[in-house]
Amino acid sequence: MSSMLPEGALQNQVAIITGGGTGIGKAIALNFAKLGAKIVVASRKLENLEATVAAIEAQGGEALALATDVRDMAQVQNMVERTKERFGKIDILINNAAGNFVARSEELSVNAWNAVVGIVLNGTWFCTQTVAKEMIAQGSGGKIVNVIATYVWTGAPGTVPSAAAKAGVLSMTQSLAVEWSKYKIRVNAIAPGPVATENTTRQLFGGGNLFERIASENPVGRFGEVDEISNATAYLVSDYAAYINGACLTIDGGQWLNKGYLQYFNDLPPKP
Ligand code: HXC
Ligand code: NAP
Repeated sequence: MSSMLPEGALQNQVAIITGGGTGIGKAIALNFAKLGAKIVVASRKLENLEATVAAIEAQGGEALALATDVRDMAQVQNMVERTKERFGKIDILINNAAGNFVARSEELSVNAWNAVVGIVLNGTWFCTQTVAKEMIAQGSGGKIVNVIATYVWTGAPGTVPSAAAKAGVLSMTQSLAVEWSKYKIRVNAIAPGPVATENTTRQLFGGGNLFERIASENPVGRFGEVDEISNATAYLVSDYAAYINGACLTIDGGQWLNKGYLQYFNDLPPKP
């Protein structure tokens, strides 16, 4: 799928994308690079990040891979310093890194809770605060997009640490959008529905006939594509979305809405 924005829509922008070595984050990195942005991808596995960088360079773009665990503030600070050294500034942050697994809540260990909440809530905060300090010092504003999930609206039995942390990130998004508007920093979120990336298929969707059920119960009858998520994200950080601040864009085919009993009236037999 090609980008929906005009060529050069992100020209001269420098974007950090956490979790940019796989799945949705990789698609965002490739798409932003096509639109002219210089890219930093940051996560734990350098080999995945380097593959993203190679793909960006192969399409004529510029990118940097930085091994970073977002749970560690010192590593996040290093990510920001190295970005400034290489590209001179930071305009865009996409908080996409996440961890998740399905477990009975009554059996979760303290470490299990901390692993997910540490990545999703603390990691998003560490990256957001550290990058925003640079954006404020630069004086030229900035754009932050937090990747959450539609289960912030519904809750998520079986993935409670992720649901609780993502709901915290939604509140962080709304709070900072107002607090930092004076610095011209726009803070928004996207809430994807199910997208069959390699890791989510392994961690969440792989069991039994779950994959088929999730697809068939979606109003559009399928999973989302990574490019559908990356295109919406590109729009949110572009100047076309200059008046969008503190919003959460749901991208799920209508999945989370599809549970009222009125849905059964969709298939009424024809009038006699
Ligand atoms: C119960 C589990 C577990 C599981 C790990 N733990 N997996 N507990 N059930 N399936 C526990 C471990 O036993 C340990 O606790 C603690 O969690 C930390 O585990 P580590 O393996 O040491 O953690 P770490 O190496 O930091 O890895 C973090 C991770 C891992 C989250 C556990 O899965 C990961 O790195 N994931 C990244 C990729 C990912 O998850 N992508 C999917 C994103 S999908 P003890 O007590 O034993 O020490 C998503 C939303 C999808 O976010 C929405 C769909 C609609
Ligand atoms: P993914 O491929 O597993 O992406 C998650 C990324 O986070 C990985 O690249 C991983 O890289 C990185 N990461 C994990 N722990 C990290 C840490 N401690 N520090 C730095 N980076 C870390 O899954 P995805 O499907 O593309 O998900 C991307 C985003 O979309 C996530 O925020 C997820 O919650 C959200 N989302 C996905 C779906 C879906 O159905 N796919 C639905 C709703 C929301 P490393 O292993 O290299 O660290």
